[in-house]
Amino acid sequence: MAIDLLLGLQWGDEGKGKIVDVLTKSYDIIARFQGGPNAGHTLEFDGIKHVLHTIPSGIFHSKALNLIGNGVVIDPVIFNQEINKLKKYKIDLKNKLLISKKAHIILPTHRLLDATSEASKGKLKIGSTLKGIGPTYMDKTGRNGIRVGDLLRKDWKIKYDLLTKKHLKMLSFFDVNIEFDLQKLENEFFDSLNTLKKCKIVDSEEYLNQAQKDGKKILAEGAQGSLLDVDFGTYPYVTSSNTTAAGACTGLGIAPNKIKEVFGVFKAYCTRVGSGPFPTEIKNDYGKKMAAVGNEFGSTTGRARRCGWIDLIALKYSIEINGVTQLMMMKGDVLSGFDKIKICIGYVQNNKKINFFPYNLDDQNTKPIFIEMDGWDEDLTKIKNQNEFPDKFKDYFKFLEKELQVPIKIISVGPDRNQTIHVD
Ligand code: GDP
Ligand code: IMO
Ligand code: MG
Repeated sequence: MAIDLLLGLQWGDEGKGKIVDVLTKSYDIIARFQGGPNAGHTLEFDGIKHVLHTIPSGIFHSKALNLIGNGVVIDPVIFNQEINKLKKYKIDLKNKLLISKKAHIILPTHRLLDATSEASKGKLKIGSTLKGIGPTYMDKTGRNGIRVGDLLRKDWKIKYDLLTKKHLKMLSFFDVNIEFDLQKLENEFFDSLNTLKKCKIVDSEEYLNQAQKDGKKILAEGAQGSLLDVDFGTYPYVTSSNTTAAGACTGLGIAPNKIKEVFGVFKAYCTRVGSGPFPTEIKNDYGKKMAAVGNEFGSTTGRARRCGWIDLIALKYSIEINGVTQLMMMKGDVLSGFDKIKICIGYVQNNKKINFFPYNLDDQNTKPIFIEMDGWDEDLTKIKNQNEFPDKFKDYFKFLEKELQVPIKIISVGPDRNQTIHVD
């Protein structure tokens, strides 16, 4: 059976968690392939909102297995908190949640390095979630990291002590100091490890490939968004993993020829949290209205998300790099009541028109070229069927579909599981 892949096409927070939850009924395994607790994936059903950081978004379905792949970085403290929050739902976590032996561990000092590095950058800071993501992936590629499988060995503490000592020395290289109580952080870390060690820890690439041969349906869940990819995003204002389709192969150990559908999730507009270029950002009241109606506050950090109009140049780039076969458009309901809706169809850079996503997307020298469409006033949130869409809304998404040349298969009109319209 083929493996499908779901990922974000913008700067994260597109609504991936909601869609994975909606799709899970058609899958046997949901496998998260990269990122860590910098992610916040929100699911809503039965009037309750859940935010997941490390655990895949299929966890609320009784049938599906959820797997945390080797490409993910895990903070045992946050993982423990996530597990504790799930306890009241009586989920059979012992059997339903699998963790790769090869996933890397975020240490307390990784978080300290993240915070100190950011503080030292001043105005040039990335706007990291401060979860220790960058330093942990640096230790992974630097071949110094500690993996989940190491925790099962008696001598892993020696490795931990050596690495922590090195990190403390590295902290002293920075011009800025942050206050911390390492003892307290370590107590919390070591207490939390027990939860992780009690989980089913597996050779996940072997597990997934066998499951695939056995005819199981697998959905790979991405975190962040394509424009935060460490290679293809708006570097250096990116995260430290490959958020794009290739990341699913390296983050799970699945071969590219096993992947069938690539689901690309995007918002009907665009948001970005943290620093970095954002050509279509709206800095006036329209932006504030979008943020208020869309409740655009980070699921992980609570920070206000910057809002802007949809950017077709960026979307075409993401679709290309990922080989997207189906699109899912989220939060169309948020645009109800805007008299005009802008769509970016190109950029002007240094007085030259360009229609591709450039190496340098600097806000200073990149201006968007917009076209305008009429908005719609109707509330979309109660719509149950594609025939009920207002004409102007239909014009909007049909235009996007024509430009992007990939069918929009799902339109989401609210945060709840049920506010999801399948389109044909
Ligand atoms: P993710 O990181 O891609 O999973 O997205 P987040 O959960 O960080 O952010 C998406 C936010 O939008 C969450 O608060 C969702 O509950 C909410 N959401 C998802 N789909 C819709 C939608 O169609 N309409 C509205 N109004 N909210 C949505
Ligand atoms: P989900 O999976 C939105 C952003 C941060 C910062 C940059 C680097 O919920 O879509 P990092 O902590 O990775 O070093 O931060 O990336 N960022 C996200 N923005 N959604 C996310 O995840 C993000 N994960 C990281 O705000 O700009
Ligand atoms: Mg999020």
